[in-house]
Amino acid sequence: MIKFWSYDKEFKKYKNSILKKVHITLKKGNIFFGDQLKTFEKNFVKKYGSKYGIAVGSGTDALLISLKSLNLKPGDEVITAANTAIPTISAIINAGGVPKLADIGEDYLIDAEKIKSLITKKTKVIIPVHLYGQMCEMDKIQKIAKKNNLTIIEDCAQSQGAKYKNKFSGTIGRFGCFSFYPTKILGAYGDGGFILTNDKNSYEKIKRLRFYGIETLRKNKFKNKYYANENGYNSRLDEIQASILNFKLKKVDNFINKRRNLANYYLKSLKSLNLKLPEENLNCKHVYHLFTIYHPKGELIKKRLKNLKIETRKIYPYPIHKMKAYSRIIKNKNNLKISEIKAKGILCLPLYPELAKKEIDKICYNLKKITKYLN
Ligand SMILES: Cc1ncc(COP(=O)(O)O)c(C=O)c1O
Repeated sequence: MIKFWSYDKEFKKYKNSILKKVHITLKKGNIFFGDQLKTFEKNFVKKYGSKYGIAVGSGTDALLISLKSLNLKPGDEVITAANTAIPTISAIINAGGVPKLADIGEDYLIDAEKIKSLITKKTKVIIPVHLYGQMCEMDKIQKIAKKNNLTIIEDCAQSQGAKYKNKFSGTIGRFGCFSFYPTKILGAYGDGGFILTNDKNSYEKIKRLRFYGIETLRKNKFKNKYYANENGYNSRLDEIQASILNFKLKKVDNFINKRRNLANYYLKSLKSLNLKLPEENLNCKHVYHLFTIYHPKGELIKKRLKNLKIETRKIYPYPIHKMKAYSRIIKNKNNLKISEIKAKGILCLPLYPELAKKEIDKICYNLKKITKYLN
């Protein structure tokens, strides 16, 4: 069986170091807001060249807290991509916003031109989702945001370490929101998330919001006095997860190199097949969180690979406006055709740092056989 994703091999490789880290952390007796968290926040911010950052409980919380910090008014609109993960949309709605969906381009990323036509007087935010490991066209999106006085929140859940014109994912918008869900580029052994920002006031606000709204400002007389300055949440990254992430953060560039290497191996092996393969856009560094192939008969390919004990996933099988939870909220459903077409045929192949090349050989060999008779 070739699993779509697996932690077994990673854990086997790093078991001693990870268990040692966890043991030391537990012996210290701090479960929350200790040295591990402080070190992780400092190193994450430094690594990606941002000014400030806080760790939170998940990528969903990173988006929710960033959005909440903007104090959206009823009816305020937030534009994002129709093919995003559900949490991008739930965060918008839970923060009091109204999601507006833009269609995507051939590269599966939000089409900047389509954003323009969605802007109204109520639009406040754009959330470009750097899906599958590649960043959106940020120059164009920044231009639109500037012209219309909109805030950009980057959804970087799938793009840690990716670059656009030499800038890291999450450092261009007001906020960059990351996920440490185990399958991600930097995966915790549980949930976790992060918010990067270069704006001091925003940093102070999101720091309060992640912990019940308690004041943490150094100069404030209520600092750490269990005094809520505003209504907030409980979204903490615990010391155990922080200790594992500290260990793995040092290796994350290596993880990305391995992913890029394996993606290139796939690309070479599949290039003559009747499949749409992922492409690295000009001026971008793709980190291949996912390796996508597209064929109108993607569903059939998935079934056949499953029979051969090769696991693949459709990420995502339904665009947001096609789901019951959101179909009534989304008003502009007619202009989302590319998202609909892509959702039907998209398929993600196994790709993670420990995947063996001989496993890729097996996947590609079978894909060749399967696609030979598909038109
Ligand atoms: C694009 C995108 N946004 C947001 C999230 C939410 O992250 P988390 O699962 O850590 O809450 C995910 C993860 O599934 C994601 O892929």
